[in-house]
Amino acid sequence: MATNDSARSYWATWHDAYDDPESDLTQRLIAVQHRLTDAIDQAPPGAIRVISACAGQGHDVIGVLKSHPRKSEVHTLLVESDDDNVRVARARIAAAGIPGVDVRQADAGNTGTYRDAIPADVLMFCGIFGNVSDEDVRRTVNNASRLCTPQATVLWTRHRRDPDRTDQIRSWFAEVGYEELAFDSPGPDRFALGTLRLAAPPLAYRSDLRLFTSGRNEGDAGSSRPLPPLAVQATYPSPGAAHCYECCGLG
Ligand SMILES: C[S@@+](CC[C@H](N)C(=O)[O-])C[C@H]1O[C@@H](n2cnc3c(N)ncnc32)[C@H](O)[C@@H]1O
Repeated sequence: MATNDSARSYWATWHDAYDDPESDLTQRLIAVQHRLTDAIDQAPPGAIRVISACAGQGHDVIGVLKSHPRKSEVHTLLVESDDDNVRVARARIAAAGIPGVDVRQADAGNTGTYRDAIPADVLMFCGIFGNVSDEDVRRTVNNASRLCTPQATVLWTRHRRDPDRTDQIRSWFAEVGYEELAFDSPGPDRFALGTLRLAAPPLAYRSDLRLFTSGRNEGDAGSSRPLPPLAVQATYPSPGAAHCYECCGLG
């Protein structure tokens, strides 16, 4: 329940839409939880590593794990920077009695943050791509596999308000070796959720890459600017491709 708003951060109050069962955010949550449940159900026996970047209060992961029969096999890292959300996420995890979920208060845009939690069987980028520049989305897409196991599942979301970038993001993931398992969206102007399987071999982990620098409001952060030309078109595999650390992080 939303209380004492003046004392709560912007990113804490952002989560209040989860209290409304009719909100787009709640509808998105249902879709994300459905795809996350599938990914955990279908994982081979044994430990399953889940990483959620910009995890917020962890509604998606906690909602799934609290009742999932394999919850004791799942090791989860939630990376979140906001004080209020970190506190709420930790309290929710304790209340749900879920083992193996860590909340790390850190910068999710820095690959070094994930050093001891990789490789992820499930990697989640929910609520990020509408808050960062197009260049950052592409850099994140190009480098996500560095955090993944072969065949990992990647979940991503973005709003579909004008300009709707979701087709572009889908093709960027395809270019670097992901197969789309599902694309869930109620339609234009609403949310989109992509569910992917990493079909190409993962790129080697690097601890020194910046994936994104987050903005604040969904729909801001450069999404209305035309896409600039990239120094290197990302293709996978890219034998002999020039390295492009500045722009794409390929290398
Ligand atoms: C749009 S919310 C999404 C939260 C959650 N993934 C969800 O879908 O419910 C974005 C979250 O990212 C957090 N955040 C923003 N920049 C971050 C960063 N660089 N590192 C970690 N968390 C960040 C914010 O505090 C906020 O909780």
